[in-house]
Amino acid sequence: MPAAIEVESISKVFKLFREKPSSLKARLISSRSRAEDFWALKDVSFDVREGESLGLIGHNGSGKTTLLKVIAGIVRPTSGVVRYRGRIAALLELGAGFHPELTGRENVYLNASFLGLSRKDTDRVYGSIVGFAELEDFMDNQVKFYSSGMLVRLGFAVAVHVDPDILLIDEVLAVGDESFQAKCLGKIRGFQKEGRTIVLVTHALDTVRQVCDRAVMLDRGELHAEGAPIDVVRELRYALLRRDPGFVPEEGTKEVELSSVELIREDGSVERPVRVGEDLTIQLDARANRPVTDLVASFQVLDSANFPVADGREPIGAIEGKKRVRFALRHIPLVPGHYFVTVGLASGESGRVYHVQTQRYWFEVVDEEGRHEAVELSVDASVEDL
Ligand SMILES: Nc1ncnc2c1ncn2[C@@H]1O[C@H](COP(=O)(O)OP(=O)(O)OP(=O)(O)O)[C@@H](O)[C@H]1O
Ligand SMILES: [Mg+2]
Repeated sequence: MPAAIEVESISKVFKLFREKPSSLKARLISSRSRAEDFWALKDVSFDVREGESLGLIGHNGSGKTTLLKVIAGIVRPTSGVVRYRGRIAALLELGAGFHPELTGRENVYLNASFLGLSRKDTDRVYGSIVGFAELEDFMDNQVKFYSSGMLVRLGFAVAVHVDPDILLIDEVLAVGDESFQAKCLGKIRGFQKEGRTIVLVTHALDTVRQVCDRAVMLDRGELHAEGAPIDVVRELRYALLRRDPGFVPEEGTKEVELSSVELIREDGSVERPVRVGEDLTIQLDARANRPVTDLVASFQVLDSANFPVADGREPIGAIEGKKRVRFALRHIPLVPGHYFVTVGLASGESGRVYHVQTQRYWFEVVDEEGRHEAVELSVDASVEDL
């Protein structure tokens, strides 16, 4: 399949002015140095194949809208080029492309002409646009009186009726109510069947998995991940978890500390992915900074949606110095994906937390031969003096 869109080394620098100079003199001296370069996009390259639906995801401010505008030709990149074949229709910010003082009807004709439709072509699809938007009673009102939902309806209706080869959609769908969202998704599916190319920006990660063939993740203006939607969505979830301000990576009194934690594969390695059906050992070294008598070690494994899939707890009892605990997870029956491990040391009697590291460790499960049978996950624990 040839590429419908080629994004080649796109960078976009915005000048940020942090402070307003207070006087003419200050401005003369320092205005140039006050402008800081902000890289909204940094050397981003990828292709979108013809007929493909690409999900573009990333945290707030990661550069998605900027990139979509660069592709649509609304924002000029600082460097790099975008090539595309065919007609592009873009649904960007709310009400973008609409003139507030004009009526809905006038805006439809104006927009359609920007997108290359003749007046006659527009006459032909006008009824269908209005019907799709369900705005029959409002077409003679100025769009400045439209609600945000009405603006999205009209914007989407125009975009899908101008016969575009490429449709760019930025989040806006979330503004519509549920029935309109379903209608939009139906239209998107129709476009997919017709072999049109779609780039969809959304924070609805499930939609990306359901709708898109591939996904790209931006992180602070850089391409962070690219591939199957499931993998890229997982990558984003993992990054989100790390950024959550409520996320405490580490806590406890440290009366007993986790001095080392390792996830060891069957062959003794600690790096490579685990194959479905293999064993994985979670090895914790506990170091007592003061003797305690009721130490308990525990772990929990969570999937990328934060759902616990396995846990274990092993009473160690008294500890002075160091002890090593091994939790051996037998014949890992987990579906392929990334898993995160929380490990902890606590008092068995009072429940006092000595040391917990939340989801600090992770491993990847890969599927070798498409094996998916559910096996019982058995865990063996052992304790030894060090
Ligand atoms: N015209 C501009 N001038 C200066 N900075 C800008 C401009 N447009 C965007 N930015 C900055 O570029 C960065 C990327 O913005 P962008 O809107 O592309 O992010 P986004 O990924 O679409 O975020 P969101 O998920 O919140 O929609 C942000 O830090 C934003 O403040
Ligand atoms: Mg945006």
